[in-house]
Amino acid sequence: MNLTNEKVKELKKDFPIFRNKVHGKPLVFLDNAASTQKPRQVIDAISDFYSSSYANIHRGVYPLSERATEKYELAHDAVGGFINAGKQEIIFTKGATESLNLLSYALPSIIPPGKDEIVLTEMEHHSNLVPWQQLAKRNKMKLKFISVKKDFTLDYADAEKKITDKAAIVSVSHTSNALGTVNDVKRLVRLGIKAGAFTIVDAAQGVPHQPVDVKSLGCDFLAFSAHKMLGPSGIGVLYGRKELLEKMEPFNFGGDMIRKVSYDDASWNELPMKFEAGTPHIAGAAGFAESVNYLNRIGMENISRWENELLKQALESIAGIKGIMLYSPGPKHSSGILSFNLNHVHAHDVASLLGDDGVCIRGGHHCAMPLMEKLGISGTSRASFYLYNTVEDINIFIESLKNIKKMFSR
Ligand SMILES: Cc1ncc(COP(=O)(O)O)c(C=O)c1O
Repeated sequence: MNLTNEKVKELKKDFPIFRNKVHGKPLVFLDNAASTQKPRQVIDAISDFYSSSYANIHRGVYPLSERATEKYELAHDAVGGFINAGKQEIIFTKGATESLNLLSYALPSIIPPGKDEIVLTEMEHHSNLVPWQQLAKRNKMKLKFISVKKDFTLDYADAEKKITDKAAIVSVSHTSNALGTVNDVKRLVRLGIKAGAFTIVDAAQGVPHQPVDVKSLGCDFLAFSAHKMLGPSGIGVLYGRKELLEKMEPFNFGGDMIRKVSYDDASWNELPMKFEAGTPHIAGAAGFAESVNYLNRIGMENISRWENELLKQALESIAGIKGIMLYSPGPKHSSGILSFNLNHVHAHDVASLLGDDGVCIRGGHHCAMPLMEKLGISGTSRASFYLYNTVEDINIFIESLKNIKKMFSR
């Protein structure tokens, strides 16, 4: 489905939230990098699941539990298919944060001796930074950061220097949530593989916005969250190559992840259950599968193209406002994220005043405090787009921003 403004207006009708007004004004939702709104199809899938299919999974032998189990397992298929992974390679977690934390505990069990460096980029979300800081402290490892250049893209020459044979882990963001920069992940993964490191992609801002194929990227692991791609919160994915997941020790222990338990010991269930201890977000999985179906119907290429058109339009319009500072690598290297500051106005004030006009954006450090420090700022205002945003949304946002600028110029 090639998206046009008219088609997007039709799609928007799938999202009940947009029936709401803010102070009598239309709701313009431009905080999609934080989380996305849900279409009726996803809401119905969750509600229907609770109404007709809910029971705990795997252990019940009655038809209701069998139906719930089947739906839960089919969700692994659907989500796996979405990124070209096998169903055993899809571990459902609480979200990208939990996926990366899980890895930071489970991966060291297979790191070969002599490798003690963890290579990240300077643009990581705290979720792909703090777990590795903690691992570095626990296991006496060293952190290295690939530089961000003045044009807000990564310095790949620096990556070549920093990813050496000492690297145990190379963990990089697919797309920066703070800048919108889409990194050349394939290139970074190749460098990681050459160095004999495990390669991890934080694709929380990648998978929802463009086609992502784990086989083509060649990475060992990849993390993302359902709530950023029309799905429910509280469920996400750790993708891992099957042979690595088989080798790794589990991190969470308890029900469902075991094969056999005695008073003294236990053995582990097959994948993906080995890494899914306890009762998971069962209805969330049904909603997640439906969000993937919804995105597939539109097509990820089309979504990416539409977001890029919106970004181009927003960049052109915002450039006309005096006193705007942009933190964007431009539409060629960016997904639909626009980070900016308005001279002398705090990012929180911008976000709050836009909010009064019904425009939802985010102001702050975007969970990337070290990056903000490097840029010499405390934060930015961030507008982020998704498939239901229209040209009119961008116009309302820009007009409101112009009014804020006028207000502070008096
Ligand atoms: C790049 C990136 N990584 C990780 C996360 C963490 O995702 P979650 O909060 O869903 O675990 C986010 C969320 O904003 C993100 O933008």
